[in-house]
Amino acid sequence: MVNQLIRLFPTPEVLAESLALDLVNQIKDADTSVNPFTIALSGGNTPGLLFSVMADQFAGSVNWMNVHFFWVDERCVPPGNPESNFGMTNKVLLSKIDIPKENIHRIRGEDDPGKEAERYSGEISEFTIQKNGFPFFNVMLLGLGEDGHTASIFPGNEKLFRSDEICVIAAHPKTGQKRITITGQVINNSSEIIFMVTGKHKAGIVNNIIGKGDNKKQFPASFVNPAEGKVIWYLDEEAALLIND
Ligand code: 6PG
Repeated sequence: MVNQLIRLFPTPEVLAESLALDLVNQIKDADTSVNPFTIALSGGNTPGLLFSVMADQFAGSVNWMNVHFFWVDERCVPPGNPESNFGMTNKVLLSKIDIPKENIHRIRGEDDPGKEAERYSGEISEFTIQKNGFPFFNVMLLGLGEDGHTASIFPGNEKLFRSDEICVIAAHPKTGQKRITITGQVINNSSEIIFMVTGKHKAGIVNNIIGKGDNKKQFPASFVNPAEGKVIWYLDEEAALLIND
């Protein structure tokens, strides 16, 4: 069974401050003399708060030279588009910290999705260490959709947790929006997988994934099960509302 920890917080703000501090401490404690600290970020609405706390409270207390940022997934839009995960993160965090631009490995959402999935797989392989035959990330920051998707692995695409590819093209089931996403074996190869989930609209799916519900295998996020790493759920009280129901 997965090595899983559930951490509850009264509000998204308190959660974001605690998670930012935990990430910063991990970066500081990591031995980056040989390999940089690698973090893959998700997009969507939830992590914005975390990124702004990191920028506001920790910009000057981390040596960002030792940190490389990647993306778990990206919408196939240019970086200036409001839908761009990179665009949001750059505005809220990356443009406010002193980090070499070569440490920022964005998915080029404006390019041809097929070519970009291939190119980005190569960039990940070049700038991460390999473990168990797959790229290794120190931290994988995931979100959770109300339909149980994580990264851009949507219901019906659970096979992406068995794929030997590093990145593939996906499509949002409702909007059809093209996405590029890291696959499940790379996710599960990480040292620490963090789910950041807030709001009562997520309470049902959180209960399905980590509560007593027995229909877990319907949801992609249920396949997050690192062989060696750990999973930590950062939940606000609203998202955790139904866990023991
Ligand atoms: C994306 C994400 C996706 C996200 C979930 C939750 O590009 O949309 O990476 O996996 O984490 O959809 O999104 P919200 O935080 O917006 O609820």
